[in-house]
Amino acid sequence: MDRNLALEIVRVTEAAALASAGWVGRGSGHDADNAAVAAMRRTLDSISFKGRVVIGEGERDEAPMLYIGEEVGNARDPEVDIAVDPLECTNSVAYGRSNALAVIAIAPKGDLLHAPDTYMEKLAVGPKAASAIDLKNSPEENIGRVAECLGFKISNLTIVILDRERHFDLIARVRKTGARIHLIPDGDVSSAIAAALPDSGVDMLMGIGGAPEGVLAAAAIRCIGGAMQGRLVPRNMEEVERAKRMGVEDINKIFNVDELASGSGIMFAATGVTNGDLLDGVIFRPGGAITHSLVLRQKSGTRRFIRAEHHFESDPAY
Ligand code: FBP
Repeated sequence: MDRNLALEIVRVTEAAALASAGWVGRGSGHDADNAAVAAMRRTLDSISFKGRVVIGEGERDEAPMLYIGEEVGNARDPEVDIAVDPLECTNSVAYGRSNALAVIAIAPKGDLLHAPDTYMEKLAVGPKAASAIDLKNSPEENIGRVAECLGFKISNLTIVILDRERHFDLIARVRKTGARIHLIPDGDVSSAIAAALPDSGVDMLMGIGGAPEGVLAAAAIRCIGGAMQGRLVPRNMEEVERAKRMGVEDINKIFNVDELASGSGIMFAATGVTNGDLLDGVIFRPGGAITHSLVLRQKSGTRRFIRAEHHFESDPAY
């Protein structure tokens, strides 16, 4: 795939982040999300590829734009599958909290798991601890092995967990090991990627979050070189059936990172909307704004942290 595509897709996440950032703290996640979706959809059509949305805003009848199966882009080649979350952490934007991102991953056709919109139990770490994690093992075992691989005392390890009632037991068990916990109100895409990067201050993501978010994080981790595992956690039979329709035959299967996002042609871009574990958010200034993005290209292993200055009057995108 053309290496320039990686730098094209960051324009898409920048546009979505800029559009939704105007809604920070204004109490309406719906408006923030709509603004991000419209900006992302518009910008995607300026890119020279033939993209098919495999993870998006929902099924065709639920979403007017960026629905699963929708085709985007303005050329015939290359043909790519696209996973998007125009606004990851809608509530964080509505209430002015951290970790909100605009995210996209692209890969050659068939290389991204078509994850249903259900929950997923996840573990994510960086390259040094890649061999240490296994969802079949207890949290205590995973923590012990990660600490060993990183050459840390358990008390120096920082585990990220979504602050949810369903995690009360997990949190108590992690506390008992002596590990530190970074509880996040939302945004496990940002934190999973941060766990895979060196010196981010977090060493492992544990717990249950969204399954589509799991595929997005896995795509980034394939580019960075860490490890991740995911197991679907459907809430009811309807979600089990839906997963089957989307191609997941064994609902209890533990997916490794290279089954969530396979192949070797993945590209990933994310732009911060609010400050978070991974990226700073949008900063507005007279006539423009500053954005902070991460762009990853699996083939070269390049990680670009891009600080962009946008001028609304001279840039036709705004
Ligand atoms: P949304 O933007 O879709 O609300 O996702 C935010 C998020 O915190 C994700 O990062 C996480 O995977 C998921 O929600 C967890 O779901 P829930 O809020 O239902 O526990």
